[in-house]
Amino acid sequence: MSGDSRPEYSVYLETYGCQMNVYDSSAIAGYLTADGFVEADDCETADVVLLNTCSVRDHAEHRVISRVGELRRQRERQGLPPALLGICGCMAERLGESLLKNNRRVDLAVGVDQYDRLAGLLRSLLGDRQPAARALTGHRDDLHYVAPPELYPTNNSHLVTIHKGCDYRCTYCIVPATRGPQREKSPEVILDEIRRIVDRGGKEVTLLGQNVTAYRWDEDTREPTRFANLLELVAETAGVERIRFLTGHPRDMDEQLLTTIGDLAKVCPWLHIPMQSGNDRILRRMKRLYTRADYLAMIDSARRLIPDVSFSSDFIVGFPGETEEEFRDTLEVIREVGYDQIFSFKYSERPDVPAAKLDDNVSVADKKRRLAELMAVQDEAWQRLASAQVGEVWQGVIEGEARRPAGAWRMRTANNRKVLLELPDAQVGQRVTARVTGFQNTTFRGEPLKDPR
Ligand code: 5AD
Ligand code: SF4
Repeated sequence: MSGDSRPEYSVYLETYGCQMNVYDSSAIAGYLTADGFVEADDCETADVVLLNTCSVRDHAEHRVISRVGELRRQRERQGLPPALLGICGCMAERLGESLLKNNRRVDLAVGVDQYDRLAGLLRSLLGDRQPAARALTGHRDDLHYVAPPELYPTNNSHLVTIHKGCDYRCTYCIVPATRGPQREKSPEVILDEIRRIVDRGGKEVTLLGQNVTAYRWDEDTREPTRFANLLELVAETAGVERIRFLTGHPRDMDEQLLTTIGDLAKVCPWLHIPMQSGNDRILRRMKRLYTRADYLAMIDSARRLIPDVSFSSDFIVGFPGETEEEFRDTLEVIREVGYDQIFSFKYSERPDVPAAKLDDNVSVADKKRRLAELMAVQDEAWQRLASAQVGEVWQGVIEGEARRPAGAWRMRTANNRKVLLELPDAQVGQRVTARVTGFQNTTFRGEPLKDPR
């Protein structure tokens, strides 16, 4: 029982979707812990089960709906009383009340800007009091929410959300609707959060946002703080050794920002810059605000300004009207850029987004085939890129033990390459120098060098 003798209910939290949701789940846990809830060991014994959900593709939503059914049936089979079952995140925001009407198994829905009200709602429902509403949605400006670093054991990298929402209007994307307009955390709040991470022994932060490169803070400053300035401020924070960020928009990657990234030794030379398509007509229809030539010029500048830079990207295949020829333009770009990693998706029509008005006319079979082809081309490009790395000497940081082989550890380089090393003894956070000896899939193998420094 908690100090004020309120029941100490346990909560099991499951997270779907992007890194933003991972961060939000920590924030949810922070609010609930502050209110006297405790974390449950498993979903079978928890008083409350929460699913923090994603709406970005139809498939992501289906997974959650079937998970709801599975969770309910699991308890019924075991003769256990049902848990209070809540949906958080983008699906809750998108569907709100209708989620509860259409799915009787869901007890509450709490959208992305309402987590500070979640504990109150849960206490009402658990105490058999009828709340005013079981669906809390809507966007708010007062979002200086923080996932309290004190709650979490320090592992190697810490997520720090720097803003919420998105003001771009990519025609396929539901995020502006679910996450709302772009709203910034102030540099003070961000830096304070990072200092708290450092106080707990953290050395690496990943700055997070739907479009981090569009960060802009104007209040009380003669000079607006842009993302490049924020990187400088974070780099000046004592104790921070490495800074990563996700996700950048190609249009914001100007020379000034690329120069800052290249100049700041603490900023890791790894850019995740989704291109989505290699064809100009499709890029226009997607409203991505750059052309293939702009994107490739930006990649060239990045290579010139950021030593050892590596790239990763997202692509969508089968956007409405995409012809076979236009799809081939995407393959060509993938061969040309040489990405370390690609996340590729079949176009999924989302309700009420601008692209929903276009005819989703690429057949499921064609989307599937294009996706497979894209992955094969990436695989080939990756083999070439990876083979050229064998024999190189890299520095990196140990992130943990590998599952296989026994005695192996996982190292990550600043430019986000993963290397498996056999070390007799290592510690998370330890810096290691190693020679690359080979690779398998997207992981390199290496041998540690005896006297690295
Ligand atoms: N269909 C398929 N993929 C999508 N993405 C976003 N919206 C859609 C959609 N409607 C992909 C984009 C984005 C990534 C997070 O998800 O590639 O960069
Ligand atoms: Fe999914 Fe996008 Fe929402 Fe993240 S922000 S949970 S990827 S819809």
